[in-house]
Amino acid sequence: MNWKEFWDRQALLHSNPQIQVGRIKSGITLSEQILDDIVQHIVAKLELGPTDRLLDLCCGNGLLSHRLSQHCQEVVAIDISPQQIKQAKAQFAAPNIQYSAADVSEGNYCTAEQKFTKINLYFSFQYFENFSKGKKTIAAMLPYLQDDGMIFIGDVPDFKYLNRYYSRAKDRFRYRVKLLLGNSDMGKFWSEGEMRRIAADLDLTFQLFEQPAHLPYAEYRRDYLLKKN
Ligand SMILES: C[S@@+](CC[C@H](N)C(=O)[O-])C[C@H]1O[C@@H](n2cnc3c(N)ncnc32)[C@H](O)[C@@H]1O
Repeated sequence: MNWKEFWDRQALLHSNPQIQVGRIKSGITLSEQILDDIVQHIVAKLELGPTDRLLDLCCGNGLLSHRLSQHCQEVVAIDISPQQIKQAKAQFAAPNIQYSAADVSEGNYCTAEQKFTKINLYFSFQYFENFSKGKKTIAAMLPYLQDDGMIFIGDVPDFKYLNRYYSRAKDRFRYRVKLLLGNSDMGKFWSEGEMRRIAADLDLTFQLFEQPAHLPYAEYRRDYLLKKN
């Protein structure tokens, strides 16, 4: 799947900021309370505080970046889709956020001097559709992470729960075929083993978390916290 085109189109076609970034459950957008719960969840896992400098990767239209910016010193927010970034600048600007467009799997999206205390990549790791692309994306973050910093890879569709998302065998089969052919509209369900291997290969500590049940996609997604060894 060409995710840049896909997410550009979402930003162009829809005026509702939640629909622009696919925040829909059972056909309806999330309540403000649930959005706040998601933000509080990220803030808690990253222990985000007023002195933190946050790198928010795959930020979409800034729906969450804007809220996160209220909990830290500054946010640099990056997304591959220029149309999402255009929406972010129009709808979710703040004095302490800087938005820009780049493919975060390619690296070089910040300057060598920029170091962040925290990195967030939320509701987006599925778009790195194979092991090497996922590993390359996490490796590309490391030069920007302060040595005692943390990386939160949150809301990742989990292979263990594939049956919960695709309850019919034929849909699971279709998922596998589409992923192999590169035309999945869902992206990749990552396994704990794959995430552990990435962490080990990159010399990172690894923590896996179930999501609190009140989060909208807790049934089939889990979270990862990574730190430099
Ligand atoms: C579902 S949206 C999530 C946006 C935001 N993180 C949130 O939670 O609301 C996924 C975003 O990932 C971005 N994305 C996908 N692949 C990317 C890549 N290689 N580099 C940067 N952004 C990417 C898309 O453009 C899209 O805006």
